[in-house]
Amino acid sequence: MKKKAKYNVAVIGVGVVGIEMLRCLKQFNFPVAELRVFARSARQIDVDGLKYSVEAISPEGFSGIDIALFAGTEGEKGAAVTYAQEATRRGAVVIDNGADFRMDPAVPLVVPEVNAKDVKIHKGIIANPNCSTIQMVVALWPIYKKAGIRRVIATTFQASSGAGKAAVEQLEEENIRIAAGGYQDVEVNLENKAMPQQLGYNVFPHIGGFSEDDYTSEEWKMVRETHKIMHDYKIKISATTVRVPVRTGHSEAIYIETKKPLSANQAKDILSKSAGIIVLDEPKKNLYPMPKDAEGKDEVFIGRIRRDPFLKYGLWLWVVADNLRKGAATNAVQIAQELIK
Ligand SMILES: NC(=O)c1ccc[n+]([C@@H]2O[C@H](COP(=O)([O-])OP(=O)(O)OC[C@H]3O[C@@H](n4cnc5c(N)ncnc54)[C@H](OP(=O)(O)O)[C@@H]3O)[C@@H](O)[C@H]2O)c1
Repeated sequence: MKKKAKYNVAVIGVGVVGIEMLRCLKQFNFPVAELRVFARSARQIDVDGLKYSVEAISPEGFSGIDIALFAGTEGEKGAAVTYAQEATRRGAVVIDNGADFRMDPAVPLVVPEVNAKDVKIHKGIIANPNCSTIQMVVALWPIYKKAGIRRVIATTFQASSGAGKAAVEQLEEENIRIAAGGYQDVEVNLENKAMPQQLGYNVFPHIGGFSEDDYTSEEWKMVRETHKIMHDYKIKISATTVRVPVRTGHSEAIYIETKKPLSANQAKDILSKSAGIIVLDEPKKNLYPMPKDAEGKDEVFIGRIRRDPFLKYGLWLWVVADNLRKGAATNAVQIAQELIK
């Protein structure tokens, strides 16, 4: 990308991720010349007391844009499929939060703490990984470099905001109904039901659609995206992804089988010296990461670091991050920072 003092930036989508992108651009002092904000419909919005004019998206809107941060919905009629190529044709580099381009071999999939150098091989589009993958690879990478990784088994505990604004609203609505009249089996009859089950006072192991071998698409994302980001397709990865009634902040219980033995103290030491990680691990003081504390933060928090009592190559980590920040907007803006370095 041609070096400039300031860049024309577009943010596409003002849902839960798009709003965080606007915050990150401001908070990270990204050198913005002109900022244009697009969604399906035009309106004025207020973020932390700052007013933004949202324009209805159009191909012409991308003229003169250097960097386009996409946070619209995915799929055939989604923002990225419809407009990403239009944006690149007009000279912009696209950083896309959705899944549409992630597995395209021509598109780098980047978590700067792991594979920042991949940014350089872009051909106009760079993909931001899935939220549950990002926090996992940030935690895996320092262990991988020190001891190698043979196998990973992950169970996630994912917040409602991971499924967008409508899912946050569904959980809020369910909580109101539960408080008003009962405890279980709340009749969820919302017009825009965003999740496949009731989430209030409930958990369900179903994120994305069911696909090959009865894993969900979210579970396959954790496998395939991790392989691509870490450039190692031999790591045996298997995941169970679970939605929990948390507003924001995904948690993951991750079991790692290393190639060389690693003590819990060695793992703590390596992780606490690694970029983008904060270790919170003092069990005697009840200190471990929790989503409510990670909300609004940019780091990945790791605790409960302990060895498998039966296997010297086995290690457990409890990994928590804000899915809208490091899991989406923070990572996307960090990619943009790499791009302009
Ligand atoms: N939520 C997360 O934790 C998370 C994490 C990683 C990645 N992602 C990805 O980030 C993207 C945004 O997710 P979100 O959770 O912020 O969704 P969201 O809350 O549902 O918001 C979606 C936004 O995209 C806009 N939009 C939808 N279709 C559009 C189109 N064709 N053209 C222009 N704008 C369009 C909507 O516009 P209107 O407001 O005008 O309707 C809305 O502002 C998705 O691809 C998602 O998979 C999300």
